Amino acid sequence: MENLPREGKATAKQSGCTLSRRKFLFYSGTAITTSTVMLQIPGVLQAKEARIATYPHKLIAKMTDLKLDQPVAFNYPDDGLNSTCILLKMGQKAGGGVGKQRDVVAFNTICTHQGGPLMGTYNAEYKTLGQCPFHLTTYDLTRYGIIVSGQAYQSLPQVLLEVKGDSIYAVGVMGLIFGRNNNLIG
Ligand code: FES
Repeated sequence: MENLPREGKATAKQSGCTLSRRKFLFYSGTAITTSTVMLQIPGVLQAKEARIATYPHKLIAKMTDLKLDQPVAFNYPDDGLNSTCILLKMGQKAGGGVGKQRDVVAFNTICTHQGGPLMGTYNAEYKTLGQCPFHLTTYDLTRYGIIVSGQAYQSLPQVLLEVKGDSIYAVGVMGLIFGRNNNLIG
């Protein structure tokens, strides 16, 4: 592979591109609107397509209606392929959690390995989803859906939530939904 000239190399910081891991995962799992962004690298001017998500805001449930460890099923970001999700109040602070206790989270329920159905596999004792009926992957819902065990190698897509008053809205997805190459085209 041809090496770049020394002056052509630039770190993300040097090029003014500072994207957090969380934002990177969010954007990598989504794409819909495109716009042109100019990246100024010493000696080189490059035009890149930036992909910006435009997720719908969808009312899922009322905070006061949630019951501890009882999942609420919904579809997001649409009713298409593999859009089944659950909303959960776990009674334990979780990554990405909303509400006073930061314990309300939502996840897609299709296994990232080969699409096994995870609906109905919530384990309230360990706050996990799984085991997947296909190859036994289990995901930790307190830590952004990371894999606890099994065959998968990508975390479970987490639905981003917003709370307004007593209402809980889905506003995005962090991670790519199984079977899609774009979360917004189901
Ligand atoms: S499809 Fe779920 S572990 Fe393989």
